[in-house]
This record gives sequence, C-alpha cells and structure tokens, in this order.
Amino acid sequence: MKVLVVGSGGREHAIIKKLSESEMVDKIYCAPGNGGTLELAENVDIDSLDIDRLKEFSIDNNIDLTIVGPEDPLAKGIVDEFKKEKLVIFGPDFKCAQLEASKNYCKKFLIDNDIPTARYKTYFNYEEAVAGLKDFLFPLVIKADGLCLGKGVTICNDKEEAVETLKSIFIDKIFGSQGEKVIIEEYLDGIEASLMCFVSHNKIYPMESAKDYKKIYDNDFGPNTGGVGAYSPSPLFTDEFKKKIYDNIIKKIEKGFEEYDFDYTGILFIGLMICNSIPYVLEFNVRFGDPETEVVLPRLKSDLFKIMIDAIDGKLEAKSLVWNERPSVAVVLTSGGYPKEYEKGYEITGLEKIDKDVYVFHNGTKRVNGKLLTNGGRVLTVGCVDDMNKAIEKVYEEIKKINFNKMQYRKDIGRTFFL
Ligand SMILES: Nc1ncnc2c1ncn2[C@@H]1O[C@H](COP(=O)(O)OP(=O)(O)O)[C@@H](O)[C@H]1O
Ligand SMILES: [Mg+2]
Repeated sequence: MKVLVVGSGGREHAIIKKLSESEMVDKIYCAPGNGGTLELAENVDIDSLDIDRLKEFSIDNNIDLTIVGPEDPLAKGIVDEFKKEKLVIFGPDFKCAQLEASKNYCKKFLIDNDIPTARYKTYFNYEEAVAGLKDFLFPLVIKADGLCLGKGVTICNDKEEAVETLKSIFIDKIFGSQGEKVIIEEYLDGIEASLMCFVSHNKIYPMESAKDYKKIYDNDFGPNTGGVGAYSPSPLFTDEFKKKIYDNIIKKIEKGFEEYDFDYTGILFIGLMICNSIPYVLEFNVRFGDPETEVVLPRLKSDLFKIMIDAIDGKLEAKSLVWNERPSVAVVLTSGGYPKEYEKGYEITGLEKIDKDVYVFHNGTKRVNGKLLTNGGRVLTVGCVDDMNKAIEKVYEEIKKINFNKMQYRKDIGRTFFL
C-alpha cells in the first residue's frame, strides 16, 4: 500500500515511523516533510495547504491512504475535497473540523451536550467584551475564536491586561478575521492532560493519555510554546479515572456527534483540565497533538495503518489497540530564542551516535547538500520508552551527543509533575 502523510513536523515523523513498521505499507510519501521524514519516506515538495496539488499527486501516484497531520488543511476541507474524487483519506471533514477551527463552535457543542467545560461568553465587538469582563473573576481567559497558530489564548491576571488583550484582537486585529469573535472564559485551576482518540464514524477509541510541557523554562517558567516535552501516560489516568472520563465526557461526545449529524472519522484530541479529580474539556483538536504524538505512538504495539483503514471502514475494535505497558518520555530541543525570535540554518551534529533505544523525531530540520540544518523553533524531539526513571536518564544522556548552535531544552521533563 502507498501512503501520503501531509505535514512537516515531529508529529508527522512519528506517524511515518509507526507506518513504516506496518507490513501492509510499501511506500510512504510526505508533503512537504522535513530532514527526518526523508529517511523513511519520500518528501514531496507540496505545501500542506495546497489541496489541489495534493489531490493531483494522490491520483497520479495511486495513493491508497492519505493521512493529514496539521489542522489547517482539515479546517480548509481537504477531506471533503479528497472524498469527492473517491480518494481514501483519514481525517474529519470540514464540518467536524470546526470543533477546532472555531472555539465558539466548540464551546456551543460542549454546552449543548452537557460536557463539563469552563463557563464562557462570546463577544462580537470590543465594547461589549470590555463590558462583559465584570461577569468574570480574575484571572480569566480570553480566546480569539479561530486558528491563530496556537497563539490565540491569553490568561489575564487583571483588568488592564484583559482590556489590552481585547484591544489587540478587536481593534489592532492581530489575528485578522480569526479574531472577529472572542470568548471570555472562567479560569480553571487544575492539572492539564491530553487524551488523543481514534474515531471511527462517531465511535471513540481512546489512546493512552499524555501530558505535555508548554512553558519554555524549567519548573514551568517563561512564555508558552507549542510544547517542549511530554510523557505518557499521565499518572492521573487510573482505571477509575478512565471510567469517569468515559461516562462524563466520551459518551457525551459520541452522542453529540450523532446529534450534530456528524460522521466523524479521524483523530480527536481532547484537551482536559482536571480540577479536584473532575475532568473539564478545555478544547478539542481534530488531529494528533505535537509533541503528544511523539510519546504516545512509540508505545503503540498495533499496526497504525490497519487501525486507520479499519476506522475508515467502520471495522475498528477496542481490542485492536495494544499498548506497551512501559511509559515514554520525550524532550524537545529548541532553537535559542524560541518561542520569540530565533535563527535557523545551523548545522546539527551527533545524531549518528544516538543509542538505538532512543528515538529522535525531527520537528524543524532540513537537509541541504548532505548537511542537516535547523529549520524551526522546535528542532528535534528525543524520546525513549522504558521505566520512567531509566527513560528520563537515557534521553538526557543521549541529548548530550547532539549539538547545534544555540540549542536549548528543559532539564526537568518527566521529573516534575505540575499542579
Ligand atoms: N479555562 C481555562 N483555564 C485555565 N487555563 C486555560 C483555560 N483555557 C485555556 N487554558 C490554558 O491555555 C492553553 C491554550 O488554550 P487552548 O484552549 O488549548 O487553546 P490553543 O491550544 O488553541 O491555544 C491551555 O493548554 C491551557 O494551559
Ligand atoms: Mg491547546
């Protein structure tokens, strides 16, 4: 079988690694890919948002399955476009993808289906939003409605900060049309966890849980990032807690999908905030998370290609998801300056010396004239599946072999459990 993976990050590299272990998969393409994906797949120079060219490529190359990594092509309707051509694609269609593309739509879905979530209100202009601040205590959370490259959420500690944030969205229009609606939401004080699920025609099959680290510096200091480390599973996910999640959240999402007349197939990422053992849904993503995928998929023993095909065919069974009991941990190596300004194009050395027990996924790299160069804020994700302490030790030992100019990373991944 021939597979096309759309995207260019560590998430896509992890998906490709797992697909490459399938006996059913003969050839993998990645569009556009990176310096790591080309070791297991053939990189194709097509932007992940260029749906027409991706479609053309799939037809010309008789692709059996296309897997979409990032959210933007899903929100743009890539799945609908592929299906029109009878191409097989794994991911939710345009309508289902609105659960991620519009925070307002997501909140409405949660409330309509009685799924626990933070109290909120939606505003359409600056004046109303400023007036609405009085209905919430500080800190409060302000969210621009649309996909804002993951930068649309601000936690505001006082009125001045909140007014400033609303001004930047409504008046300075820093997110353009993605900020035409704004949600103000109550702040939930708890522990975050992520639960990614396979979904087959509205039926949800949870994967193992994960916890990612968002802050750039040790002990959770500094600005938010796309995620600079992760481990799986989250120790909060006992059997009892999993049952609670199933009863209070998953069952209700499945029912909601039916009521909203969805036919959801793909990945659903449930972002949770757990407050006094009660899980609340913060948001949905309609695709694999990054870096969660880099710790969850290495623990999957089953054939990822078969899971996806079975999900599309409505044949997936819970028992086909088999997991390595051992946990995993991964640390993201970033470019100095990230998440603010950083430089690209520095040579990466030492990867050939990495122990085979430790995996390295490429987030932002490219190969130029035989040299591997940094090509993003997040550069590499170094991980290991083993007993937790051993895994942590191995990952940090191996990282010492890797070098690029201004490389930075957190030293406390897996070692601290944030409340
Ligand atoms: N209601 C809330 N209470 C506390 N923290 C929140 C709340 N909503 C979001 N956050 C924090 O902001 C982060 C980003 O918010 P999220 O809704 O996941 O949007 P996005 O991932 O699109 O930026 C969350 O991971 C969480 O740390
Ligand atoms: Mg999020």
